[in-house]
Amino acid sequence: MRDPENFWSEIAEEHFVWRKPWDKVLDWNFSTPEVKWFEGAQLNITENCIDRHLATKADKTAIIFEPNDPSEEAQHISYKQLHEKVCAFANVLKEQGIKKGDRVCIYLPMIPELAVSVLACARIGAIHSVVFAGFSATALATRINDCECNMVITSDGSFRGTKTIDLKGIVDEALENTPTIKSVLVVKRTDADINMKDGRDHWLQPLLEKASKECVIEIMDAEDPLFILYTSGSTGKPKGMLHTTAGYMVYSAYTFKNVFQYKEGDVYWCTADIGWITGHSYILYGPLANGATTIMFEGVPNHPDFGRFWEIIEKHKVNQFYTAPTAIRALAKEKLEFVENHDLSSLKVLGTVGEPINEEAWHWYNDNVGKKKSPIVDTWWQTETGGIMISPIPYATPTIPTYATLPLPGIQPALMDEHGKEIEGNQVDGRLCIKFPWPGMARTIWGDHKRYKETYFSAYENKYFTGDGALRDTVGYYRITGRVDDVIIVSGHNLGTAPIEDAINEHPAVAESAIVGFPHDVKGNALYGYVILKETGESRLHENLRKEINQIITEHIGPIAKLDKIQFTVGLPKTRSGKIMRRILRKIAHKDTDNLGDISTLLNPEVFKRS
Ligand code: WTA
Repeated sequence: MRDPENFWSEIAEEHFVWRKPWDKVLDWNFSTPEVKWFEGAQLNITENCIDRHLATKADKTAIIFEPNDPSEEAQHISYKQLHEKVCAFANVLKEQGIKKGDRVCIYLPMIPELAVSVLACARIGAIHSVVFAGFSATALATRINDCECNMVITSDGSFRGTKTIDLKGIVDEALENTPTIKSVLVVKRTDADINMKDGRDHWLQPLLEKASKECVIEIMDAEDPLFILYTSGSTGKPKGMLHTTAGYMVYSAYTFKNVFQYKEGDVYWCTADIGWITGHSYILYGPLANGATTIMFEGVPNHPDFGRFWEIIEKHKVNQFYTAPTAIRALAKEKLEFVENHDLSSLKVLGTVGEPINEEAWHWYNDNVGKKKSPIVDTWWQTETGGIMISPIPYATPTIPTYATLPLPGIQPALMDEHGKEIEGNQVDGRLCIKFPWPGMARTIWGDHKRYKETYFSAYENKYFTGDGALRDTVGYYRITGRVDDVIIVSGHNLGTAPIEDAINEHPAVAESAIVGFPHDVKGNALYGYVILKETGESRLHENLRKEINQIITEHIGPIAKLDKIQFTVGLPKTRSGKIMRRILRKIAHKDTDNLGDISTLLNPEVFKRS
């Protein structure tokens, strides 16, 4: 692309409402690193996502809420109602003392109040930090403390399939160690009997009833922070990726429109949770900035049975459906009648995201859901990129199973070799970088710019390094081959090995541990843990220890990080500098022990014979 600045400024000018135009489209330096888009411009993202649609679409449905229990009626929230709800909520936030720049932690199930609270923060310029409501109390407290939130918004509980989860109990436990939290707003959802701490906890409903349904927008600068969202890193604590206002808005809206080819009147459904970036960009901001109708689903794909996704598509006549390979694989294992019993003829575009999709799952999705008529957009992107980067444009880009195909216009990928040089030409593979800024990129890691620079801008000079490997085929299509660092993607969730190992090491019987991924037919990857005990006890005790280790992981991180296999061992292969050789552990977990590769740098090669 010859003039990316002009390309992006035309998009920004044409599709959004600005309170003040920008002075400069882009200012960037990947070595500091510093990136600014639309500098000098002023706006509010909620004016773009809600207010400006009121003139023409006040009664159009903005959000369809589909509850966990199919017998509970779905809610259709119009743009006008969404406006009132967001304004009222924003006024409650203000009354509670929340101001522009304050951080608000949102720990809610997939209920309308989650969408409304996110937008209410954005309306008054507070920075939202949504934490997926499957994380444990410890994980929640870590995230609250890292960005020093003043408030938590939560609910009495949540419904997931046949289970009811005590969310407020988890919040109470987390708040034992969070000195910055002044207040908690509680949504009533399950009617569970919960503790309300005097002076700190407030039921939301009565406050909303008293609040005005008008709230003027806070005028934001283009680079003012919009939200923080945590993602796992190879090492250390989770990284609070910071996204800013104008660039993120332009990018999430532009990619939504093009990748899903949303047309007026369509109903769009993304099955992600708003606790992840996919939900931020493609349940809320992207669709709403386009005046779309977007579905929020509270439940799970197997409740009340494995036909639930297909039932929802039929019920709401979904036109664009966006889900994860892990869900496709799980559903493909079930009887085909679950799919065949439903009319899926409304579908026009199918999407997938979060991990590489294997060929078998791709074909199952294409044959049985899309009936070979709906193109599949295999969309590659990351929390850090804010929006989709590599993807087919449906009905324009011919698709090939397992290929994310081509970068979107405006995106400039590069593949790098092991010497740090860009690999030119086709039919090559290497490490995936991006060479030029795009508006949706995260600007920093909250409170740790040095780590941002080291993680993303130090491996290759003047390039953003994604952490993924990729190949480019003969026609220039990209296929993402997976992480090249110590992040493991389990059921589409990024998990860093270090926090899981730290959790395991908390067990009094454990001396050391190491985690690697191994292939799993539904989750994509599952976790394999090698654990060294302080004393090699009797093996009959090992089963209990396995349970206890998974219990500790659940408490520290959440059930998503539980190990599928635990092997007790007496040593771990290490390099002379003391680094665990995960490559070898991976091979053992994959049962590829005949081919361990070069182990000459191992300090203790005898470990294999004994473990
Ligand atoms: C992986 C999710 C292959 C990749 C939006 C990336 C994918 C990480 C794809 C980011 C895809 C995402 N094909 N791999 N279509 N999409 N990934 O931050 O490894 O939760 O780096 O963002 O997921 O995960 P994150």
